[in-house]
Amino acid sequence: MAAPKSSVRKGVLLAGGRGSRMFPLTRTVNKHLLPVFDKPLIYYPLTTLILAGVQEIMVLSDPRDLGSMREALGDGRQWGLTIHYGSQARPGGIAEGLLVAADFVGDEPFCLILGDNIFYGREFISLLHQAADEAQSRAVIFTQPVADPQRYGVVKLDSNGKPLLIVEKPADPPSNEAVTGLYFYDRRAVGFARKLAPSRRGELEITDLNRVYLEAGDLIAKRLGRGLVWFDAGTPQNLLLAAELVHVIQARQRTGIAFPEEIAYRQGLINLRAFYALVDAMPDGEYRSYLSSLRDEFGPAA
Ligand code: DAU
Repeated sequence: MAAPKSSVRKGVLLAGGRGSRMFPLTRTVNKHLLPVFDKPLIYYPLTTLILAGVQEIMVLSDPRDLGSMREALGDGRQWGLTIHYGSQARPGGIAEGLLVAADFVGDEPFCLILGDNIFYGREFISLLHQAADEAQSRAVIFTQPVADPQRYGVVKLDSNGKPLLIVEKPADPPSNEAVTGLYFYDRRAVGFARKLAPSRRGELEITDLNRVYLEAGDLIAKRLGRGLVWFDAGTPQNLLLAAELVHVIQARQRTGIAFPEEIAYRQGLINLRAFYALVDAMPDGEYRSYLSSLRDEFGPAA
């Protein structure tokens, strides 16, 4: 299978922070390595990046957790990717992560995803590719109405879906349209992030970066429709809900969600021989059994 061409090659995956909302689970384990049903949470945003056409990724994490992160994902070669690691010594904000990743990003458009965000649904891939195209000269955010907008970045859109204002965790939300943790930026983002001042909670806020784009008239908001599921799995309750969703879909439809091996093959990043070699090297269990079941569809390696 040939990899669909994407206009964005690089992705930044933020997997730092202390995971304090998940204490005591996160006392010894990085939040992004906790399970969502049958695989680590980080596999979900990682595979979203692969679906967006990204082939080079920088994973940012707390220095304490970089070792386990590397063990979980390796150098990415097994999935046809290149994965680099960067250390964010203190969770100084999502936009600060971009400063840590500045050399990696260089002078190109890129995709940024938060390590606790899960996306799933119809037509998501075409939305990602559209966003990658638009990010050549603008920034793109994805939004979804929620019941508790106070917990998120919130955007107010006009009747044509154009962003009018964007605020972080407002006590009095101007709308119920939450900004999800997936962003595409053009080459200006790091320069803009360098000029941001810390917020009242001492962080470089991604919402402040998005506001710079909004004020320049260069922020595009894409609403995730009904067929798309989005989870910020950053609390025990959402982690459980996400696991239930993955379980139900995988059990009822025999459709795998966020298996990097399958997605890497479908995206043309690895060939069938490499795919089967990965599966054959896995211990017996449900994870391997799902991937093995794809032999019926994929056929023998040439
Ligand atoms: O999930 C979407 C929301 O994510 C957006 O609506 C908000 O605008 C955005 O600020 C963010 O809000 P959260 O309160 O969920 O951010 P949180 O501090 O939980 O961090 C999100 C992820 O980013 C999490 O997986 C940890 C990672 N992170 C966060 C910070 C602040 C880092 O790796 N480094 C950091 O410095």
